[in-house]
Amino acid sequence: MQTIDSKKVPTKTLSNGAQIPVIGLGTFGSDNYDAATIARAVKTAIQMGYRHIDCASVYGNEKEIGMALQDVFAEGIVTREELWITSKVWNDKHKEVVASCKQSLADLQLDYLDLYLVHWPFPNFHAPKCDVTARQPDSVPYIHKDYMKTWAQMESLVENGLVKNIGTSNVTIPKMKLILRDCTIRPVVNEMEIHPHFQQPELFGFMIENGIQVIGYSPIGSPGRPERDKTLEDTVDMEDPIIVAIAERLNVHPAVVCLKWAVQRGQITIPFSVKTDKMYNNLKGITEGPLTELEMEEVSTIDKQCRLIKGQVFLWEAAKGWEDLWDLNGEITL
Ligand SMILES: NC(=O)c1ccc[n+]([C@@H]2O[C@H](COP(=O)([O-])OP(=O)(O)OC[C@H]3O[C@@H](n4cnc5c(N)ncnc54)[C@H](OP(=O)(O)O)[C@@H]3O)[C@@H](O)[C@H]2O)c1
Repeated sequence: MQTIDSKKVPTKTLSNGAQIPVIGLGTFGSDNYDAATIARAVKTAIQMGYRHIDCASVYGNEKEIGMALQDVFAEGIVTREELWITSKVWNDKHKEVVASCKQSLADLQLDYLDLYLVHWPFPNFHAPKCDVTARQPDSVPYIHKDYMKTWAQMESLVENGLVKNIGTSNVTIPKMKLILRDCTIRPVVNEMEIHPHFQQPELFGFMIENGIQVIGYSPIGSPGRPERDKTLEDTVDMEDPIIVAIAERLNVHPAVVCLKWAVQRGQITIPFSVKTDKMYNNLKGITEGPLTELEMEEVSTIDKQCRLIKGQVFLWEAAKGWEDLWDLNGEITL
C-alpha cells in the first residue's frame, strides 16, 4: 500500500494549544457501507498515514472501529497519543452525556477522546433510515438553557479527563453567541457543512474571529448522502467547471481540489471514503501542490449557498421548513 509520512500532514492549533491534523477520515457510511467495511477503512487509513478519525455514536460503527484501533496499536503502527479521535453525543442523549461518552469510550476501547462534540443543537431524535417527512411529536426548537445543561456535562468530561477538547456541531452564529456568553469552557471547534458550493463565509469568519476552528463536513459535496437528504435543486461541487479546470491543471480528481481549497482556506477537512485509492489521493492532495491565489479567488466565486445536509428530520411540529434549523435571518428561530 502507498503511504504518506504523517509528519507531512499539517496541524491546526486550537485555542487551548492542542494540535489537530487538518485532514481526518469521515466514518459516516450513510446507507452505503456497513460497520465492518468502515472499520477496515479506518485501519487502512492509519496504516496509510491518517492520524485523525471523525466518529460518532449514531454512525453505528464505533465497536468495529474500536477493534480496528486495537489492531493498529497491537501491530505497533501507531500509539494512542499519535491519533486524534473525535466522537459525538447523539441528539437523544443530551441529558445523558457522561453515560453516552463512556459508551463511546468502551466501544472505541479508549481511555479518552481527543474531541467530543454535541452532534446537533437539538435533542430531536429520528429513527435510522427514516423518511424525510418524518417529524417526531416531541421535537423542539433550540432551547438555550437546555443546551447549556448539556454543555455543562460536556465540561465535566474535560474536568474528569475523559475528553481533552469539546466542541459544537451544526451551530449557527446566534446560537454560538449565547453559548460563548454562558459557557465555562469554550468550544474549540464547530463542525459544520462546508464545500465549494456551500462556503458559509459569514459563519466561517465568525468562528475564526472567536478562536473556534472549523471542521468542514461533507467537503466533497457528499455524493453518497442518504436519499432523504437529496433534492432536485442540489448542485454537484465535483462537476463545477472551475473545480474541474483546476483538477485538470493539477492532474488530480476534482474531489481533491475541494479538499485542497478547504485546507488552504483554513478549515480542517474530514472526507469520507472506504476506497484505498481515494483515501490515498485525498491525503496526498493536502500535502502537496497548493491552489494559486487566483484559483482560490475563483473558487470563492462559485458559492451556490447549496446546503446538502438540510436536517429536515429534526424539525418540530410548528417549524415551517428546514431553513428554520439554520437561523437564516440572524436570530434563533423558535
Ligand atoms: N457533524 C455532522 O453533523 C456531520 C454531518 C455529515 C457528515 N459528517 C462527517 O463528515 C464526513 C464526510 O462527509 P460525507 O461523508 O457526508 O461526504 P464527503 O466526504 O463530502 O463525500 C464522501 C463521498 O465522496 C467520495 N469520495 C471521497 N474521496 C473521493 C475522491 N478522491 N475521488 C472521488 N470521490 C471521492 C466517496 O466515494 P466512495 O463512496 O466511493 O468512497 C464518498 O461517497 C462524514 O463521513 C462524517 O464523519 C458530520
